[in-house]
Amino acid sequence: MTVTAVVGAQWGDEGKGRIVDYLAQDVGMVIRFQGGDNAGHTVVNEHGTFRLHLVPSGIFNPNTACIIGPGTVIHPPALLDEMTELATAGISLDNLWISERAHVVMPYHRMLDGLEESARGGAQIGTTKRGIGPAYADKAARAGIRMGDLRRPGYLADRIGLALPRINRTIAHFGGEEVELYGLARQAMGWGNALDGRIVDTTPMVRAALTEGRDVLLEGQLGIMRDIDWGTYPYVTSSNPIAGGGFAGAGLPPRAIERVVGVVKAYCTAVGAGPFPTELHDDVAEHLRGVGQEYGATTGRPRRCGWLDGVALPYAAWLNGFTGLAITKLDVLDGLPELKICVGYRIGDEIVRSVPDTYNMGRADPVYESWPGWREETRHCRRWNDLPQAARAYLDRISEIAATPLQYISVGPGREQLIVL
Ligand code: GDP
Ligand code: IMO
Ligand code: MG
Repeated sequence: MTVTAVVGAQWGDEGKGRIVDYLAQDVGMVIRFQGGDNAGHTVVNEHGTFRLHLVPSGIFNPNTACIIGPGTVIHPPALLDEMTELATAGISLDNLWISERAHVVMPYHRMLDGLEESARGGAQIGTTKRGIGPAYADKAARAGIRMGDLRRPGYLADRIGLALPRINRTIAHFGGEEVELYGLARQAMGWGNALDGRIVDTTPMVRAALTEGRDVLLEGQLGIMRDIDWGTYPYVTSSNPIAGGGFAGAGLPPRAIERVVGVVKAYCTAVGAGPFPTELHDDVAEHLRGVGQEYGATTGRPRRCGWLDGVALPYAAWLNGFTGLAITKLDVLDGLPELKICVGYRIGDEIVRSVPDTYNMGRADPVYESWPGWREETRHCRRWNDLPQAARAYLDRISEIAATPLQYISVGPGREQLIVL
């Protein structure tokens, strides 16, 4: 039995979905442990191209139980749409389960996400406007609605009724349209009916998987630099995407996690505001965005692009406890004459080699080392020795900086475009 967490080492969109899709071919269970439909996990395999938001990326293996875990927040209409899309493509949903403890992203959470962002003016976070922050805020305030409540009509109406006066005061403050209890309660019961049979106590399932020695994957959403505690606060999401978030969010004991795969894009991208020291605004940024198709899978926003951040990477490796690295999008670097890796931040007169707090990170100028590029195409490479020597040297340097062995090298979006070491 092995429990493996697959987590983002950067600012999100590292290719977690792609790695989970590959690994899920041989595992008994995949659990999403945090986040909601702010995620956009792209999977390209023999069934087609899919952008998953809530459904775990193991869904293409009918023998894998896919659990949307207790630590997630779920907008039921978004989940139902996603399920319809998958079913239409012929993907079985028989093994999809939703924790009764997961919180509901209510329509008013989405409304508030938009209203609060507008009110921030020039200090916008650049959220996905999926209601993630307001839903987690209500969870912490003990005013949330949980997925299990959708199947308990009287209790559901009571819970919504308790939450609404405060929600409506806030909406009124922003000049939005107030929400009416009975319409909303009826709508929410409809979601409960539509998802009936899938909303369960997932704890016995997870426990049985571990006891029976089945392999389990924890699928992270976003990356450490957007973690609410360890990222560039306040330019973060409202949950813990680091592996440590996996215990509470999936519901398993800490010692159960044996492997942590850190997914690292061969360069860096970020969507949304906040410090991003290696960001580029030149021809290289155009190359990365164009060749790497760096546009958000959820919002379509162009992603900010830059060189690999070798200060953030060892921080991610240590805090997550990486046991192996999955480097993705190596092929996007093909043809660049020179590559750079940031190995320090210059802040005032000092050179810092550990991740500072957000204020200082916003003042950091990257200190780079240079590596030679390669002209050859890597997308057809399937073994380490097929890679150009310069690419191997670049990858070895990433491994050295992270003090973590390389395990997977991805050279294209397709399931088979992977070098396994
Ligand atoms: P996630 O949110 O971490 O799952 O990552 P996204 O799916 O949002 O972003 C990764 C994007 O890169 C997707 O469009 C993938 O299809 C694509 N991708 C993943 N790995 C590779 C790779 O090795 N090479 C190329 N060219 N594209 C890749
Ligand atoms: P995956 O799982 C990239 C970013 C938003 C914003 C911040 C907070 O595909 O890697 P939120 O809507 O969570 O309150 O937004 O986090 N963000 C993402 N960026 N990929 C994602 O998911 C993201 N989910 C949220 O752009 O900066
Ligand atoms: Mg994504």
